[in-house]
Amino acid sequence: MISEEIRSKFERVVESQLARIEDMKTQGDFIDYSKLDKIIIGVCGGDGIGPMITGIAQHALEVLLADKIQAGKVEFRVIDGLTIERRAELGCAIPPDTLEELKACHVILKGPTTTPRAGDPWPNVESANVAMRKALDLFANVRPVKVPALGIDWTFYRENTEGGYAVGSQGVQIEDDLFLDFTVATTQGCERIARLAFDYASKTGKNRVSCVTKANIIKTTDGKFLNTCKMIAEEYPDVVFDDWYIDIMTAKLLDDKRRRDFKVFVLPNLYGDIITDEAAEIQGGVGTAGSANIGKRYAMFEAIHGSAPRMVQEGRAKYADPSSVLRASVMLLEHIGEVELANKLDRALDICMFEKPKYVLTGRDTGATAEDFTNYVLETIESL
Ligand code: IPM
Ligand code: MG
Repeated sequence: MISEEIRSKFERVVESQLARIEDMKTQGDFIDYSKLDKIIIGVCGGDGIGPMITGIAQHALEVLLADKIQAGKVEFRVIDGLTIERRAELGCAIPPDTLEELKACHVILKGPTTTPRAGDPWPNVESANVAMRKALDLFANVRPVKVPALGIDWTFYRENTEGGYAVGSQGVQIEDDLFLDFTVATTQGCERIARLAFDYASKTGKNRVSCVTKANIIKTTDGKFLNTCKMIAEEYPDVVFDDWYIDIMTAKLLDDKRRRDFKVFVLPNLYGDIITDEAAEIQGGVGTAGSANIGKRYAMFEAIHGSAPRMVQEGRAKYADPSSVLRASVMLLEHIGEVELANKLDRALDICMFEKPKYVLTGRDTGATAEDFTNYVLETIESL
């Protein structure tokens, strides 16, 4: 017998997703930054190595945007209420006052935040990342990975508000021995991520989109995701479409003969989480990869990795690689329409990482510090 309590838990999960669908149906178009008098950039340092690498990225952005800041067209706002200590104390993923501060910005540069899990000293609150993605409806997690020497230039479009993450903290224990989690797909959610991936492929001439699911096994939700991608693909005859299962795709990313042919990937949340760490490792490590979390009204830019508490405990924080947040800053600049500045920073990072790598970051004292590397990036920008 299913108890009333469990039944009402199920009901609440379903109702919250039905309400989300209604919200998606009435959403307007993407914000037009060119119509704003001023763009407000919120900076949230986060936990662990976060404040250090985010501070570095803020500095680089302030150098690049100096004219705009002076003219009052861009404002930076430091938001410091998102620490794990504060979240633990208040028992919530994002403190309400911090969420209000975030909502008063247009775009956010965010450092990694510590995500508690069962057994940690913290209360097992929902991940701040996941909560922010949902609260600001940042439905597309865009993660570029490139390795010029191997001909690799990939862009991952990870769905960011559904899948196993949608109600990941609301699974239910039915009785002593039965545990259930949920995964979610909606028509609106699948369509908007698919369309964004195809738009990008079509606009940039990276004209191949590969959908990655496990639709042969997770038939309902992954099946919906795949069918939606197939349907949207028909609107883009100039873009080649194919579909893959996640297991074989993790192998193909290592296949030297095939991998350079992939261009744009579109995939549900959890597969996107997993495979982008693999892709980043191929590029040089998770410390080298940035991401954009894009919604219609807000956008948030961050590293793809976590807060690395071990590095901090072992006194290695200053050796953390800041290129993840610097790459995220490239995407931030592009998103607010500063394409030239974005290209400059991207170019400087390519030079410092691949073409003339004067500093190698190893995450420990065998390598350079984040500060040395950043100074080199800033000097390189000057020389462009
Ligand atoms: C990421 C991270 C997050 C995620 C964690 C920190 C919640 O791994 O951005 O990929 O799982 O999405
Ligand atoms: Mg991840």
